[in-house]
Amino acid sequence: MKSGDFKGELFQCRLIHTQGLLPARRVLLTGLGKEEEFDLDKWRGASSKAGQFIRDSGIKKFAFPILRLGGFSDETLTESFVTGLMLGTYQFNEFKTRERDKIREIEEVTLVGETDGELLAIQNGLRTGRMISEAVCLARDLVNSPSNKVTPTVLAEKAEQIAIDHGMEIQILEMSQAEALGMGAFVSVARGSQEPCKFITLEYNKGKGLETIALVGKGITFDSGGISLKPSEAMEKMKDDMSGAAAVLAILKTASELQIPLHLVGIIPATENLPSGKAYKPGDILKTLSGQTVEVISTDAEGRLILSDALTYSLRYQPRVIIDLATLTGAIVIALGDHVIGLFGNDETLLKRVEEASGKTGEKVWRLPLWDEYFDYLKSDVADFRNVGTRSAGAIIGAIFLSKFVGKTPWVHLDIAGPAFVDKEKPYIPKGGTGVGVRLLIQLLRDWNR
Ligand code: BES
Ligand code: ZN
Ligand code: ZN
Repeated sequence: MKSGDFKGELFQCRLIHTQGLLPARRVLLTGLGKEEEFDLDKWRGASSKAGQFIRDSGIKKFAFPILRLGGFSDETLTESFVTGLMLGTYQFNEFKTRERDKIREIEEVTLVGETDGELLAIQNGLRTGRMISEAVCLARDLVNSPSNKVTPTVLAEKAEQIAIDHGMEIQILEMSQAEALGMGAFVSVARGSQEPCKFITLEYNKGKGLETIALVGKGITFDSGGISLKPSEAMEKMKDDMSGAAAVLAILKTASELQIPLHLVGIIPATENLPSGKAYKPGDILKTLSGQTVEVISTDAEGRLILSDALTYSLRYQPRVIIDLATLTGAIVIALGDHVIGLFGNDETLLKRVEEASGKTGEKVWRLPLWDEYFDYLKSDVADFRNVGTRSAGAIIGAIFLSKFVGKTPWVHLDIAGPAFVDKEKPYIPKGGTGVGVRLLIQLLRDWNR
């Protein structure tokens, strides 16, 4: 530090060769920035940057001694260290066949403590940090995989595998069953596609008398816009339109691994949104599962349609609260940018809980209003309401639409269209699918009974 080579600036990395002066051959210094500005998000970022530096230097193994920082517990620091490291060094190489030998990966990390207490804290922090990070990476893999690989059928198979591995209840409805139940909105969206749609319900801790939380995830495996076709520029990104579904699967799996004492119902309406001779069309009037009718103005506002039936369906489980995750609107990206979740809801306590979990995990949320007057935008001349408004307040209108399907049940809607898939990396969020919402909601569930 005296030489000025290393100033401890945030995320600065400097490798020192110890020339036999220490048992370790090399020591990596990583800057944490200003002490008074230290928080767990910077800590996750630093562990990510250190991990990337080590990996890119071709080093395969390293050890890390437990540090005492910022007044956080050893367990919390370990959990955040592991999270930053695993999420920051995530890579999606499944479909690359050339130069696979050039792919670099860290193979072994040793966490070092001295006392029994430290070791126990490290073990616990490692266990949770790893479980949660693996869940985020599962969601990222599903989002990064293209729509010819992750079809509604594949999502259903993933859900089945999770159900088998974790002893969960699962129910998968086919198109004909969804139709017979009266899911007119979901089925209409699905009709334009040749890929069979799936309506997936995964249940953890069924029948144990625990409090019920419903998690609903938008599962559009590809959104072309349908007959209201999207412009082709960046349309390939619309493979990410099942990010909500991916998060719900990852959350249920982790809840089971962490043995969270809640009854969770994960609901995923999964389908493609494509134009064809059978596709639904602007002007069509649909009867939703709730009995309410909707005039279709744009077939590209398909997310709210499939979610309307999924939200109505979730009410059968009489949940204490409903939380939905959806890449619902381009408008939320205009409003809040690429790294912030749009937060909507009808219940102050639940909204606060989400904001608290957000503070802990660094997955940023920002609240937008759901005032009654916004509903005017959705008035229809021929049905109960229409599926889009004008260009104004697009994200709010999408959320207002959803609010008509949850009754009085406390409900939160997370519009993740911005952060679900990013073109620019963040300290521990590489480019591509991010698995956003997974850490946020696992934190919320972990803290539920506190
Ligand atoms: N899947 C899109 C929303 C989206 C946009 C997600 C950009 C990720 C990035 C959604 O189905 C959609 O197309 N929404 C329309 C709604 C409009 C027709 C009211 C939109 O945002 O343009
Ligand atoms: Zn759309
Ligand atoms: Zn969509």
